[in-house]
Amino acid sequence: MGKDKVYVFDTTLRDGEQVPGCQLNTDEKVEIALDLEALGVDIIEAGFPISSPGDFNSVSEISKVVKKPVICALSRAIISDIDMANLALKDAKRKRIHTGIGASDIHIKNKFNSTREKILDQAVAAVRYSTKFFDDIEFYAEDAGRADKDYLCKMVEEVIKAGATVINIPDTTGYNLPETFSKKIKYLCDNVPNIDKAILSVHCHNDLGLATANTIAGLQNGARQFESTINGIGERAGNTSLEEVVMALRAHPELNLDTKIKSKNIISISKKVSRLMNMPIQKNKAIVGANAFAHSSGIHQDGFLKHRENYEIIKPEDVGLKSSSIDLTARSGRAALRHRLKLLGFSFSNVELETIYIRFIEMADEKKLLHDEDLYKLMK
Ligand code: KIV
Ligand code: ZN
Repeated sequence: MGKDKVYVFDTTLRDGEQVPGCQLNTDEKVEIALDLEALGVDIIEAGFPISSPGDFNSVSEISKVVKKPVICALSRAIISDIDMANLALKDAKRKRIHTGIGASDIHIKNKFNSTREKILDQAVAAVRYSTKFFDDIEFYAEDAGRADKDYLCKMVEEVIKAGATVINIPDTTGYNLPETFSKKIKYLCDNVPNIDKAILSVHCHNDLGLATANTIAGLQNGARQFESTINGIGERAGNTSLEEVVMALRAHPELNLDTKIKSKNIISISKKVSRLMNMPIQKNKAIVGANAFAHSSGIHQDGFLKHRENYEIIKPEDVGLKSSSIDLTARSGRAALRHRLKLLGFSFSNVELETIYIRFIEMADEKKLLHDEDLYKLMK
C-alpha cells in the first residue's frame, strides 16, 4: 500500500526568525529558502510582510527566486495585512496566504476583548476577502490547543465555507499532551461536516517538550500537513523540529505516512541555519546534535561495533553524515580503543592491548575526550 503524503510547511523564516537574536537579512533568508527548496519542503512561510519593510522585502525576493515550493506569507485577519501579503507575494509562482485569529476564550477575552461571535465574523470576513487574490488560503485558529472544541469546529466549518483550503490547528502555547491533541484533531475530523474540503495542518510549540510527539499524534489522527522549523527554533522553547518529524515517520513505516524531504540534506541545512541565526545546536539534540550519532560508553561502543542496530535506529548517512562516531573517554572499553587504534594503522596483540588500555584510561581520566593525536602520543 502506498504511503499517505504528508505536506511539510516550513516556518524557519517566520516563526523561527521571531526569536530574539536570530534575525536574518534578505540575502540570508533567500539563501536558506533555496536550501529549503533543495531539501524538498512543500511550503515555505517566508515572513509576515506587514510587520516590517525588511520582512516585506524578504518575502518579495524569495518569491522571485524560489520556484518549486509554495511561498506563503502570514497575516492577521485584517484587510491591510492581507493586502500587504498579496503585494509581497506578487512574483511567486505558487502563493498562499496564512491568515487567522485567536480561537481560545483566553485570547478572545484577554487579547481582543471581544466575543466568540465577533471573532468568528472577523475570521470569515478575512478568508472571504483573501479569496479576491488567493486560491490557496490557509486559516490558523490561534491557540486552538486551548480552544473550546465545539467553537473550534464551528470556526473551521465557517472558514472552509468562506474559502479556506488548509486549516491550521496550532498548539500555540505548547500546552497539549499527545493524547489530548490526538482527541482534538480526531474530533475536528469527525464533527466538521466539510472537513474533507480542506487539508488539516498541525503547528505545535515545544513548551513542555512535546511538540514532535503532538505533531505525530496529529498526523496519526487525520492531519496531513505539519508546520515546523529547522533545529526546532521558534518562539520561547521553539517549534516542532522538521528533522525530528521527518525521521520519526521514516523510522516508523507502519504509520504509512511520508514526506518528500531529501533527508540527506538535513545536516547541512541544520548547520547553516544554526550559523546564520547565531543559534548553537544543543549537543544532545535529536537527529542533528553533535552527539546524536556518537557512542561513548564501553557497553554501547562494544554493542555498536558488533552490530550497528544494537544502538542506532537511523543510519547517519540518511541525514547526511559520513558515519557515526565512537568517542574515546574514560567510559570507553577495549573494543572501542582497539577499533580506533586499528583505524589509525596500529597493530598489537591482546596482551599488548591490556597495557595500552591501562595507560589510555589514565590519560582519559585527565583529559575528558581523547582525539587521534592523543592516541599517537599514547602509542609512542
Ligand atoms: O503559534 C501560532 O499559533 C502561530 C500562528 C501565527 C500560526 O505561529
Ligand atoms: Zn507558532
